[in-house]
Amino acid sequence: MALATFPSPNSFVLELKEVSFTIRKDGEEVPLVDRVSIRVPRGHFMAIVGPSGCGKTTLLKTIAGLNPESSGGLFWDTRNLSEDGDFSPSEIGYVPQFSIAYDPLTVDESVETATRLRVRCASTEELDHRIDRVLEETGLSPISDRQVKVLSGGQKRRLGLAMELVSDPKLLLCDEVTSGLDPRSEREIVRLLHDLSRKDGRIVLSVTHSLAHLELYDSILVLHEGRLAFHGPPEQLTHYFSVSDTEEVYPRLATQPSERWHISWQKHRESYQKMMDKNRALLISSGDLHLPAAAPPPVALVGGEATPAVEPAADDHLRLPGVFSQFSTLLSRRWRIFFRDRGQVFLQLAIIVCFPILVTIFSDKASLNIRRYSDTHQTDVKAQVLEEQSVRSDQAKVGSAVSGIIMFQVVLLSLMGSNNSAREIAGERPIYEKEKFGGLRPSAYLASKVAFLACLVIGQSLWMAFFVNFFGAFRGDFIQHAGFLLLINASMTAICLAISSLMRTAEQASLLSIYLVGFQLPLSGAVLALPVSVEAFTRPFISAYWAWSGSVESLQTQVRDAVKSVIDTDLSLQNACLYTLGAHIAVALIATWAGVRRPQWD
Ligand SMILES: Nc1ncnc2c1ncn2[C@@H]1O[C@H](COP(=O)(O)OP(=O)(O)O)[C@@H](O)[C@H]1O
Ligand SMILES: [Mg+2]
Repeated sequence: MALATFPSPNSFVLELKEVSFTIRKDGEEVPLVDRVSIRVPRGHFMAIVGPSGCGKTTLLKTIAGLNPESSGGLFWDTRNLSEDGDFSPSEIGYVPQFSIAYDPLTVDESVETATRLRVRCASTEELDHRIDRVLEETGLSPISDRQVKVLSGGQKRRLGLAMELVSDPKLLLCDEVTSGLDPRSEREIVRLLHDLSRKDGRIVLSVTHSLAHLELYDSILVLHEGRLAFHGPPEQLTHYFSVSDTEEVYPRLATQPSERWHISWQKHRESYQKMMDKNRALLISSGDLHLPAAAPPPVALVGGEATPAVEPAADDHLRLPGVFSQFSTLLSRRWRIFFRDRGQVFLQLAIIVCFPILVTIFSDKASLNIRRYSDTHQTDVKAQVLEEQSVRSDQAKVGSAVSGIIMFQVVLLSLMGSNNSAREIAGERPIYEKEKFGGLRPSAYLASKVAFLACLVIGQSLWMAFFVNFFGAFRGDFIQHAGFLLLINASMTAICLAISSLMRTAEQASLLSIYLVGFQLPLSGAVLALPVSVEAFTRPFISAYWAWSGSVESLQTQVRDAVKSVIDTDLSLQNACLYTLGAHIAVALIATWAGVRRPQWD
């Protein structure tokens, strides 16, 4: 579509040209956003309104680059976003519909983490200054030490905004930040967004279902079934739709198909654009709109195509903190959240303390048998024959008891593993996606998870090994036994972390992880003998078998022989166990890496 002349060459900074976003449904292309064309100047406050399900969020995500446009072009400053790549993380702020803060953290801590993850600060003073300024701007200073979980709806929305403002985005996208608020809070938030658009030439686009306070916006975009029905000054809205009140706009929209609205808007758009240009000129001349002194280079429009007039400014990516800095920010936040959640700390402690005690109780009888069995001495031939019978019976008792206890330990550590990580990523996925969009590197995120979980795994496994070795029935090489306990815990933790990174919800991830642990026992072959054909197929994947087998191999010869005399399955060499468990961990971490890199917004 050819573009009309502009009131001033550098006024339009965000432009959508015939942008569509389509999905495939039942083999057909269905447009969720259909040929939307708009031009938005610097320092502009725009509302995107429309009935529920009309595509407002989809349009916002398309602008943000979260939905790749199926056709059309998006332009920002000097760049064609469709060709030259998306916004850099610090240029854009996106406040989604859901809360992006962790309940146990305070307002101050949330904003601080957001800053540390997104902005490279030269000094602590600069960091503090940035945090204070954002808290001030959003009116959160008086409640900066309050925990997120006690905030009101309006305060949470302010916090969501504050966490985006830390990087001074030039484009701020807000999705339903006023929905569910009382009228006063709603007005305050709209007023805040308005004020934010009046500084530094920032563009603020706000998706809202509500038709209240429209007068505070510079323009209103009305979307109907993914199509643009109107984009003009708020005072023209009722006139355009021939209604007496804004509340009648939605019912009016429903009176004709969206294609009709779209066609009629094509006819009128230029005249409404002119009205907006005039309003804007008035705003600038009255001093109500402050534009930054040094505006970035203009978009030169040649034959309707935007081409860079000057090379883009210095790479904004440079402002992002390094991987290690992001890693340590995430890790310290993870520990803080862990210790603030009393329930989680209590559960961890209970598991760490109780599971080994459970093993020791069960191994009490076996200890006795082992002692008797180990103390057997052969004296003369007659006694030897008698003794052999009793030894054989003792051997069977000891063998099955020891094998069972080792399997019990392995299964308990598998349970701990799944408890450690099943919800770890899936439970915070929307926040992680938001942070990734803001410049968080998946490598820093994964590393922080591995470091946090490694501490849990080491604590749990070593304590289990020590406790059982000290009080229980274990007779064998402590280091090797502890090593296999560590490996099974690490393996299940890594596998469940992979599940957590690949599943859509925390519930799905938990359920799958529990099934996985549940099937370890029957499929290991340690308790029930499996048909050889099934065993050959399943065994490589059953971590519990390898940890059990490796642990049995680390027993004293006599006890090991006792175990071997009762089990129906072959044991594998220790090295094979070691390598297989190592391979499980490696494959799980690679899968987790793939899972955290993959975008998963919905
Ligand atoms: N990724 C998607 N796949 C399939 N349908 C989608 C997808 N995203 C959104 N939709 C559908 O597109 C329509 C518009 O959704 P949305 O933009 O969220 O509406 P709004 O924000 O205006 O309420 C809805 O019917 C929604 O179910
Ligand atoms: Mg929506």
